[in-house]
Order: sequence, then C-alpha cells, then structure tokens
Amino acid sequence: MRQPLVAGNWKMNGSRVSIEVLLGGVKSGIGDVKVAEVAVCAPAIYLPQVQAQLRGTPIAWGGQDVSTHESGAYTGEIAASMLLDFGCKYVIVGHSERRAYHLESDVTVARKYAAARAAGLIPILCVGETLDEREQGVTEAVVARQLDAVIELEGVAALADGVLAYEPVWAIGTGMTATPEQAQEVHAFLRARVAGQDAAVAEGLRILYGGSMKPGNAAELMAKTDIDGGLIGGAALQAEDFLGICTAANGR
Ligand code: 13P
Repeated sequence: MRQPLVAGNWKMNGSRVSIEVLLGGVKSGIGDVKVAEVAVCAPAIYLPQVQAQLRGTPIAWGGQDVSTHESGAYTGEIAASMLLDFGCKYVIVGHSERRAYHLESDVTVARKYAAARAAGLIPILCVGETLDEREQGVTEAVVARQLDAVIELEGVAALADGVLAYEPVWAIGTGMTATPEQAQEVHAFLRARVAGQDAAVAEGLRILYGGSMKPGNAAELMAKTDIDGGLIGGAALQAEDFLGICTAANGR
C-alpha cells in the first residue's frame, strides 16, 4: 500500500508574516488529520523559518528547485546539501514553470534529480503536457520523454528514491482541473511505463496529481487507483484549503 503524500508548493509566494500565520494554521489543524504524509515546499530563503516552525511536527518540508552541482562557482544556485542543512526532506525538480521560464531541459531536470538523490533528498519529479500537446494527442509521448530522461541517466531503480508528480500544464493555476479519469489515465500510463522495466519499483512509486487541486475535488481525484496524493499550488497558501486536501488524502 502506497502512503499518500500531500505536498504544498508555495512557488514564489509568502513573507515572514504570512508564513508564520499559514504554518500556525496548518500545525494546529494537522492534529486531527492523520494523513500519511504532509509536506510544504517553500522558497529557499524561508527554509530556516519553516524549519523553526515545523521541527518536531509531523509535517515535512522541502525546496522547490536544486542545483545540478554539488558546490562551487554557481552564483545564485542552491545545492542539495544546503537544503539538507535546513532539514529538507523533499525537493521539487522539473516543475513546468522551471521548464518553461528557465528553459530547463529534460536532461537538466534528470541531473537535478540525480543531485537531490545523491545528497539523500527525495526528489519530486514533475512531468506534464501543455494544452497544445494534449490537443495534438502527444500527452503520453511528452510525459514518457520527461520520465525516460531520469531513467536513462539514473536507472529505473532511482525512481524508488523519489516521487513522481503529473501536472498537466493547462491545469496549473487555471482552475481547469483534469477530470479524475483524465488524470488516472496518465498516472496509469506512467506506472505501466515504469513497470515495463521494474514491476516492484512501479508498484511502490507514489504518483501525485497537481493542477488546481482543491478541497472540493481532491477526494475524487485521490480515489483513483494510481493517484497517490497531490502537489498543491494555490490551495496550499490557505491553511483551511490545504488541510481540506489533507483530509481528503486521509480518507483514501
Ligand atoms: P495550482 O494548484 O495552483 O494549480 O498549482 C499546481 C502546481 O503547479 C503545484 O506544483
């Protein structure tokens, strides 16, 4: 049985004050939510604050990006070891916003996955197609290519150390959630693709859905066999909404 994971991706949102309030709310509500696992991925500069607020709670935290390099002359970059230094458990790699706005290629993303894994972080690998790609009928080809880049670099066994997140680009921040059937179809495809190389890794792999997940649609999405939780953007910025999604995961 795969342990569901609800991970918040705050993106470039928040301030010292708003994070204090948000995490205060999540901490006080999480007591009643016996969800298997909850995490928040914060802007790197706030990780010391997140660590201070979440230490000793069941909530894990992580970064939103990581350098492909271990250390050195890479101005502005954050190394996996630095994330670990502040208690991170997770790091998102290959989010579609990084792929689109920072021109991260599949190979770069695979190297980030490798860097996170080598340091002992759990990478959350994001894959997903644009609306154009869906309309052209190439969704499976796109997510397969994004997944295969990691398998080619690290081997299929490396997926046992990570989490996969299917985030259709057209559903991110648009309110246009994929239907549970649309999401399940891609999740099942991804799991089958991994199973083609290693059935045990595929069976254990958590595949999260991301893209306008809210308390109102989380339960029906997570009721699907291959949807093992959510990667939450907008709804992770309000304690009540985030907790609502955690409750849905709890009922899975
Ligand atoms: P929204 O939940 O705001 O659509 O964002 C999803 C996302 O990109 C999480 O990584």
